[in-house]
Amino acid sequence: MNGAAGGVSLLDLEPATSDFLKEAIAGLSSSPPTLPSKFFYDERGSDLFQEICELPEYYVTRTETAILRQHGAEIADSIGENAELVGFGTGAGVKTRRLLDHLQNLIAYVPVDISKQRLTESAEALSREMPALEILPVCADYLQPLELPTPSRKPAHIAVYFPGSTIGNMHPEVARHFLQRVARLCGHSGGLIIGVDLQKSSDVLEAAYNDSADVTAAFNLNMLVRANRELDADFDLSAWRHRAIYNQEAARIEMHLISERDQTVHLADREFPFAAGEKIITEFSYKHTVDGFAALAASAGFQLARVWTDPEKLFAVFHFTTL
Ligand code: AVJ
Repeated sequence: MNGAAGGVSLLDLEPATSDFLKEAIAGLSSSPPTLPSKFFYDERGSDLFQEICELPEYYVTRTETAILRQHGAEIADSIGENAELVGFGTGAGVKTRRLLDHLQNLIAYVPVDISKQRLTESAEALSREMPALEILPVCADYLQPLELPTPSRKPAHIAVYFPGSTIGNMHPEVARHFLQRVARLCGHSGGLIIGVDLQKSSDVLEAAYNDSADVTAAFNLNMLVRANRELDADFDLSAWRHRAIYNQEAARIEMHLISERDQTVHLADREFPFAAGEKIITEFSYKHTVDGFAALAASAGFQLARVWTDPEKLFAVFHFTTL
């Protein structure tokens, strides 16, 4: 379905509620029980995530934005002229602007995002500011294979922009397969600009995911609010507590929802019993090293062109290319 969004036409491939139901049942039935992190981003979840990005403890967004602000021109140079830029999960588009402003003869911008609201709003705002730019927004789960709209002019090459360290949600093996698909999507002489959160002390990491204002807690618990509303589940919100831990061996933050008592949750026609202290894992956020991530991307068919980091080496922005 195509919908007009204030001059920008949206390609709507939004995952159906039935996908959430299927994945929630599969996740809650597995051991340990899980719920998929991509379902954080309903309207409320997207708003809460925006708030997270502004928290003093959550260095991720601010650091990546600073890297893009400082090196935007260089990154755009590295991408080259006459590109089609495909943005994965570019959301509110603040970071993207740092790049778009510098790209020479950009053929089109194709933002792909699972949050329709966030996508529509940012595409409309961008189209007001850059009326000459062809913008082709796609509401879709970019973790699944997808076909993109074709711009009216033919690009010299396709560059995929994947900011925010969302790649961190994937187990490294899954990330490798995802990167292989991205490499195919961008074809010959394509590019990938990707933001990756780096390994650092567990104190800094755990503070970033257990903020003192409890915004991350509200973000995590909102998954249950959404399941109650959209899947007709009966999670008792007062009986679940947020906790994030850094798993050093696996180099990942784990977002947990802990059951505060013995309880049974109903969802569709199923029953899911939980013991007091038992957890649902809602998200993994893997942390990489610069060399480790470059090797992972290389194993998926990418060559490292350049990498930019902040002075504290909290975060890295990579440019990879395909042959
Ligand atoms: C959007 C996946 C990069 O892992 O840091 C923020 C999501 N979860 N706080 C991250 C998130 C809890 C975020 N990513």
